[in-house]
Amino acid sequence: PTALAGRHFLKELDFTAQEFLGLLELAAELKAAKRAGDEVPYLRGRNIALIFEKTSTRTRCAFEVAAADQGASTTYLDPSGSQMGHKESVKDTARVLGRMYDGIEYRGDSQAKVEELAAYAGVPVYNGLTDDWHPTQMLADVLTMTEHSAKPLTDIALAYLGDARFNMGNSYLVTAALLGMDVRVVAPKSYWPAQEIVDRARELAASSGARVTLTEDVTEGVAGADFVATDVWVSMGEPKEVWGERIEALAPYAVTMDVLRATGNPDVRFLHCLPAFHDLGTKVGQEIFETHGLTSLEVTDEVFESAYSVVFDEAENRMHTIKAVLVATLA
Ligand code: CP
Ligand code: NVA
Repeated sequence: PTALAGRHFLKELDFTAQEFLGLLELAAELKAAKRAGDEVPYLRGRNIALIFEKTSTRTRCAFEVAAADQGASTTYLDPSGSQMGHKESVKDTARVLGRMYDGIEYRGDSQAKVEELAAYAGVPVYNGLTDDWHPTQMLADVLTMTEHSAKPLTDIALAYLGDARFNMGNSYLVTAALLGMDVRVVAPKSYWPAQEIVDRARELAASSGARVTLTEDVTEGVAGADFVATDVWVSMGEPKEVWGERIEALAPYAVTMDVLRATGNPDVRFLHCLPAFHDLGTKVGQEIFETHGLTSLEVTDEVFESAYSVVFDEAENRMHTIKAVLVATLA
């Protein structure tokens, strides 16, 4: 058993930097083993429930492929496919699934729900995204940054542009603070993470040596950045009506070639957790482009398709890192 055996994976703040980095080391090992064709299945006979109250491509597939590679089975429960929240409480669902499964993944709106599942399941519970945090995404993003930079993590500067009040903004801020990175939140003030999250990040930074910057100024925020990241401007579960105000507030924070140039770093790389609304291939994007007379949203097609973009490495790394979480907690 590993040091994380039996642990939940609910939010970054529950982990030490050492534990977080340990998961990344394991992910890199598992990735190399899969590539070499000599992966050892540590999870034979294990069963994992996947509760999705919101849609997913990467997270669901990452859990399913990771489990299959490791010899475990999964059951996918879609928003209409379980009784939870309709006919049955979270607490009862947790106790039922905990009797049948060795681990439970949950994606939905509320962090309180995934915490409640964890409190009653008696088996490890994994946060596959809530409104507050996206911790498995952070493992993938940090792995991707270490793969695409020769610098130690503590020398890497990450600038996040866009709506920073939600899962991705919160998670980047605390993860980078935990790991001692140089993190910049670049957004209008009203889109910065909640004060208590900023305070937690500053506390973490005091011991990790992280540099934490919140700024409304794009040029200042991205100067010297090694990675520029963004996310959709309207998240799952938010009403369509907010698009207008979001576009107005966040348009100056769209990741364009000018933004990448403003880093002054020819080796800068672009990150996006995806899905991205950057071309006419997305139905949501198309509708918004037409309504607002735009040709791109949070990132231009030019940046997304450029050699600076490492978004598909990042997406692949969801699988290797989620596999590490499963192996570390269940093997
Ligand atoms: N990045 C991410 O979580 O993608 P999905 O919503 O497709 O799972
Ligand atoms: N902020 C986005 C992330 C999707 C992976 C959302 O919550 O919809």
